[in-house]
Amino acid sequence: MMSRKLLLLLLLLAATAAMAFEQNCTRRCGSIDVPYPFGIEPGCYREGFDLSCDVTESKLYAGNIQVIGVDVPNGQARVYKRISWDCDDSVFPAKVSIPMDLTGSHYTFSDTRNKFTAIGCDTIALFVGATDQSYSTGCVSICNDNTTFSNGSCSGAGCCQTSILRGLQFFNITFSSTGHEEISWDNPCSFAFLVDGSWYSFRTTDLNGTDFFNRNDGRVPMVLDWSIGDDVGCEEAPQNLTSYACRSNNSSCLNATNGIGYLCNCSGGYHGNPYVEGGCEDINECDHPEKYPCHGLCANLPGNYSCICPEGMSGDPFLSACHSYSSSSSSSSKHSSFTFPHDSSPS
Ligand SMILES: *[C@@H]1O[C@H](CO)[C@@H](O)[C@H](O)[C@H]1NC(C)=O
Ligand SMILES: *[C@@H]1O[C@H](CO)[C@@H](O)[C@H](O)[C@H]1NC(C)=O
Ligand SMILES: *[C@@H]1O[C@H](CO)[C@@H](O)[C@H](O)[C@H]1NC(C)=O
Ligand SMILES: *[C@@H]1O[C@H](CO)[C@@H](O)[C@H](O)[C@H]1NC(C)=O
Ligand SMILES: *[C@@H]1O[C@H](CO)[C@@H](O)[C@H](O)[C@H]1NC(C)=O
Ligand SMILES: *[C@@H]1O[C@H](CO)[C@@H](O)[C@H](O)[C@H]1NC(C)=O
Ligand SMILES: *[C@@H]1O[C@H](CO)[C@@H](O)[C@H](O)[C@H]1NC(C)=O
Ligand SMILES: *[C@@H]1O[C@H](CO)[C@@H](O)[C@H](O)[C@H]1NC(C)=O
Ligand SMILES: *[C@@H]1O[C@H](CO)[C@@H](O)[C@H](O)[C@H]1NC(C)=O
Ligand SMILES: *[C@@H]1O[C@H](CO)[C@@H](O)[C@H](O)[C@H]1NC(C)=O
Ligand SMILES: *[C@@H]1O[C@H](CO)[C@@H](O)[C@H](O)[C@H]1NC(C)=O
Repeated sequence: MMSRKLLLLLLLLAATAAMAFEQNCTRRCGSIDVPYPFGIEPGCYREGFDLSCDVTESKLYAGNIQVIGVDVPNGQARVYKRISWDCDDSVFPAKVSIPMDLTGSHYTFSDTRNKFTAIGCDTIALFVGATDQSYSTGCVSICNDNTTFSNGSCSGAGCCQTSILRGLQFFNITFSSTGHEEISWDNPCSFAFLVDGSWYSFRTTDLNGTDFFNRNDGRVPMVLDWSIGDDVGCEEAPQNLTSYACRSNNSSCLNATNGIGYLCNCSGGYHGNPYVEGGCEDINECDHPEKYPCHGLCANLPGNYSCICPEGMSGDPFLSACHSYSSSSSSSSKHSSFTFPHDSSPS
């Protein structure tokens, strides 16, 4: 009786301790997850990863930038960015260029996921990628006649896209005209923006300024890369255990590829959040046969899994169903089925 009460008390204590550790941190804002190193309340985030949640609108912000998603394994965040334009006075205030400055933050514009995009029929859009103007690129879009452009194609006729340099934390957009007079398409506006390249697909109707602007509410999704920007790489970072961000067992450090510092990731066979203690959990591969094929008896292992043929059958169960022994099979070949995908030498 005594020991049962003690056990109950211990369990209660353990539960309270776990709650105290979480410090009542808000881990969701509307429908968006807010995983560590991000957080909202003081003590709930790593320095530089503080966000704010507008509870009434269910919107998440990093400073004044609206965040629409955080991806921990890839070190990325999706945000909304207002577009820039150059229109006939009749449509909108004629010209609006909205720069974006992330200098001094842990964020950079993803060079792999974003494309600088311009749409219009008489458009030169310049992407100025540094405050000192040391890097610029640009896009030219012309509509010669209404048959040269088509939905889904962004190749200079009505729509133009280009890649940007890695490591950028600032951009501004400026417009000028090609001097191309004969426009066969009623096109009141040029638009330009940095956008998640997998999100944007050109539609000929986007050349109608009001349609495009209204369809997207004047903003488009963009991808930011983030990193633990302590100005150290994976060689030095683990030497200071107080500041080292990769907290979980079975996690590892990766030098940031876009920006300074490093990222953490769960080791192969584990998933979860490498930035919190115990965050990387073993994947039960047997529950996901579509990703981890097994046509025999599946068994989960720490960081891995095994797949063997049932007693009395043989074959490669990672590839196809096991089959019964032919009468000539010896019992020693039974063990040859106990192999892993990359293990070519059964022992
Ligand atoms: C968590 O929040 C609840 C209600 O706001 C409060 O009663 C409790 O003391 C808080 N716990 C901690 C550990 O801050
Ligand atoms: C982290 O690991 C996951 C799963 O193995 C992988 O998809 C992802 O690309 C890795 N992240 C980085 C930054 O390499
Ligand atoms: C393209 O131009 C031709 C000739 O100017 C016109 O007949 C046709 O309707 C136009 N097509 C579209 C989709 O506007
Ligand atoms: C951005 O570009 C616009 C248009 O050229 C210019 O007026 C504005 O001063 C620029 N802003 C910054 C911060 O460079
Ligand atoms: C392109 O797509 C839009 C919207 O789906 C449609 O209204 C338009 O007619 C299409 N244009 C062409 C040239 O197919
Ligand atoms: C552009 O869109 C507006 C609003 O949908 C419409 O009234 C107008 O006719 C469109 N213009 C063209 C050239 O398609
Ligand atoms: C990580 O970056 C550091 C410099 O910060 C460099 O010395 C080290 O070789 C890099 N490690 C890897 C695995 O690229
Ligand atoms: C380790 O990191 C902590 C927190 O950033 C810092 O206060 C401390 O000075 C660092 N220690 C060393 C030896 O660099
Ligand atoms: C799983 O085990 C096999 C055989 O030991 C090995 O080749 C493979 O790399 C392991 N996979 C992981 C993710 O550890
Ligand atoms: C992480 O690994 C260390 C060393 O193996 C062990 O002492 C510790 O309990 C582990 N932590 C967790 C949360 O599993
Ligand atoms: C996972 O971490 C534990 C504790 O640090 C370690 O004993 C084990 O070997 C690790 N597993 C893999 C597959 O690396």
